[in-house]
Amino acid sequence: MEQNNNEKWGSRWGFLLATAGSAIGLGNIWKFPYITGVNGGAAFVCVYILAILIVGMPLMIAELSLGRATGCHPAWAFDRFTGGKSTLAMTVFGILMILCGISLVFYKYPGYAVVLLVLGVALMLKGWKTIGVITGVIAPFVIICYYGVIGGWTILYVVKSFAGELSFANPEQASTVFLPILKAAPEVRFGLFASHFLFIFLAAVVVFFGIKNGIEKSSKVLMPMLFILLIALVLRGLTLPGASKGLKFFLSPDFGALRAESVLIAMGQAFFTLSIAMGITMTYGSYLSRDVNIVRSGLLIIGLDTMAAVLAGIAVFTSVFAMGLNPAQGPGLVYMVVPSAFNKVPGNLGWLWNGLFFIMLTIAALTSLISLLEPLVNYAVRQFKMSRHLAVVLISLIVYGFGLLSAVSCADWKTLPGLEKVIKKFFGSANVSFFELSDNIASNWMLPLGGLAIALFVGWYWGTARAMKEIRRGTKSGRLDANMLVLLSGFNRKEFPQKSLFSPAVFWALSIRWITPILVVFAFLYCIGVI
Ligand code: PHE
Repeated sequence: MEQNNNEKWGSRWGFLLATAGSAIGLGNIWKFPYITGVNGGAAFVCVYILAILIVGMPLMIAELSLGRATGCHPAWAFDRFTGGKSTLAMTVFGILMILCGISLVFYKYPGYAVVLLVLGVALMLKGWKTIGVITGVIAPFVIICYYGVIGGWTILYVVKSFAGELSFANPEQASTVFLPILKAAPEVRFGLFASHFLFIFLAAVVVFFGIKNGIEKSSKVLMPMLFILLIALVLRGLTLPGASKGLKFFLSPDFGALRAESVLIAMGQAFFTLSIAMGITMTYGSYLSRDVNIVRSGLLIIGLDTMAAVLAGIAVFTSVFAMGLNPAQGPGLVYMVVPSAFNKVPGNLGWLWNGLFFIMLTIAALTSLISLLEPLVNYAVRQFKMSRHLAVVLISLIVYGFGLLSAVSCADWKTLPGLEKVIKKFFGSANVSFFELSDNIASNWMLPLGGLAIALFVGWYWGTARAMKEIRRGTKSGRLDANMLVLLSGFNRKEFPQKSLFSPAVFWALSIRWITPILVVFAFLYCIGVI
């Protein structure tokens, strides 16, 4: 019943472009260039590629194969091998959480105790299903609410570029346009809420038409457009006098600027950019047919994602440096520095370059938003037995509603004093906005912990043998087999019929059982500030 039997990708390319569309987003276009710049340029790119290959790739393969083997959304995928019951490990884990929750009951702020108790009881009763619901429903929901807001800003910028309202000469002047938007100031609210609505509406229309006729068809048009625009912007940047300074900043290796921290930053970025551990890749995998080679697809998706990130970096930094501006952190880079740089480009075509840049960014964000909406819709259809159309309408409205909360609280909660009071009472502080809170919960807690759970489930519970069988479908058999290392690392020899010493299968199995979980634990402890 929960299997997605009648929903399948129409072609391998459709699947590849849709998954790459999910991966390529704001993370590639504003975050990757910036973190590369401050972490040693090309030196960081090397570390990032290693992180993608060692952590990102094995997890992507794990998610795709678990999705395809079960044909289910994560809420049922984990469950299929446990028969809907909790397992010993999950029960113990749940009891520990309940005990922590009870010890917090008398603490001044009851919010934390409630969260732990609910989680503990869910783990005890439902086991892995709880993990499936967290990664496949709660994580995409938390992300989509604020991602939609950023998409709204981007559409608003497209309109403003063509209306000639982005004609500022420097980032200081740009801040007079951007800060009111960031803070949802009353005078910009109408435009802001309308463009936010339009953005969610566009994604909803695509998801409304389903996998083949909606997501797949739109990806086949949008993704080539995205790359054409990116290449046009790269050519514009590269042909500016002084572009080489930007290239040097972005691409020359500076091993001195590479810190221990950079490795963890690279890993966090690998998770976010590949849309891993948020139900998307697994759900997209559940629509995949058996004859598709998962490993090759994973490599292609990662290749396209990295290519988009590098092209975006070149386009951004060549223009910014050629125009003598400084790259800044976060949203400021694309919403203030980049438009100022394009305005200075000789030829007075700033409006055009800005327009193209923000159309490109809108497309990147849109295909990602579509991929966040789909797991939620899939879940609602199966859980509440409603039609896809109704699910799309309801979920889009809910997402828009929470997005508004996100947009309005972007500066701080002071704009919503009633809610501020409740939050303070339950959690002790309301210092961060809903916007920052969602990003923090999703990026720092849900993604690393979800990734860890997927690695442990696939590596140890579902098991590398069954996973390997699934991965081998669609490959010329025998290409992915194993050896001595497997024996040494405690695997069952029968799982790996062949003997080559350094086969990709061994690497994958070692990664998913040991390397990925250990690295993810480090990344997690780093994210929450323990190391
Ligand atoms: N992968 C997207 C990016 O790089 C972000 C994203 C996260 C998309 C979560 C969908 C879901 O921006």
